[in-house]
Amino acid sequence: MVTENVEVFYGDSRAIKGISLDIRENEVIAFIGPSGCGKSTFLRSLNRMNDTIQGCRVTGRITLDDEDIYDPSLDVVLLRARIGMVFQKPNPFPKSIYDNVAYGARLHGLAKSRHDLDDIVEDSLRKAGLWEEVRDRLQQPGTGLSGGQQQRLCIARAIAVSPEVILMDEPCSALDPIATARIEELINELSTQYTIAIVTHSMQQAARVSHRTAYFHLGELIEVNDTEKVFTNPDHDLTEAYITGRFG
Ligand SMILES: Nc1ncnc2c1ncn2[C@@H]1O[C@H](COP(=O)(O)OP(=O)(O)O)[C@@H](O)[C@H]1O
Ligand SMILES: [Mg+2]
Repeated sequence: MVTENVEVFYGDSRAIKGISLDIRENEVIAFIGPSGCGKSTFLRSLNRMNDTIQGCRVTGRITLDDEDIYDPSLDVVLLRARIGMVFQKPNPFPKSIYDNVAYGARLHGLAKSRHDLDDIVEDSLRKAGLWEEVRDRLQQPGTGLSGGQQQRLCIARAIAVSPEVILMDEPCSALDPIATARIEELINELSTQYTIAIVTHSMQQAARVSHRTAYFHLGELIEVNDTEKVFTNPDHDLTEAYITGRFG
């Protein structure tokens, strides 16, 4: 994906200021920065989730494979399948485990038969590292799973429609350390097949899962570099101040 001079407004207030950033195929890129600096706003602009917020306006240009994602003729539902999203709080639908994962595949007519659909559900649950834990209770409600399992279910739901990019907004902030470690492991596995942009308030997490890290400050992109560099020898004083805990 490529963003060029992206600005996001809530009413008259400019939350994102002229961000140009390339997100490379099959990379994990972490967005870090103090609370309120615009990480979620920018992330949401990448699959037009901001469209759902009244008074929110995006300018500039964002492309996926050279296609303008804000093109008015574009099918937004399809776009959000190609660029999936996982939220802070796991949000399974009030449906069975099976139906949660099958949801998008049914919506987009991806399965030719029940057998096809079964395969998509199993494959997605396997990729999300959840299959062994749920294979015997696929008809039970998704909301009955533990928090960490629910988050993996939401990842399976995103994967089931074969996205190119997965956006994650603090996907572990509601999880315990063990469930967090499991999701981080999963991000590493998924990065061989998908492009992942993850917002995290944990610098340790950014260091563990990402190839590159982008540092945001008051709506601006201050620095984007290889993760190792950002955390050992950042280019910018503001990044340095944040990673050494002088503010944020
Ligand atoms: N729905 C909204 N309506 C109005 N202002 C918002 C909304 N969401 C976020 N903002 C404002 O945009 C700025 C960036 O917020 P956000 O993207 O949530 O930051 P972060 O995710 O880095 O904590 C903040 O000043 C916040 O108050
Ligand atoms: Mg946020």
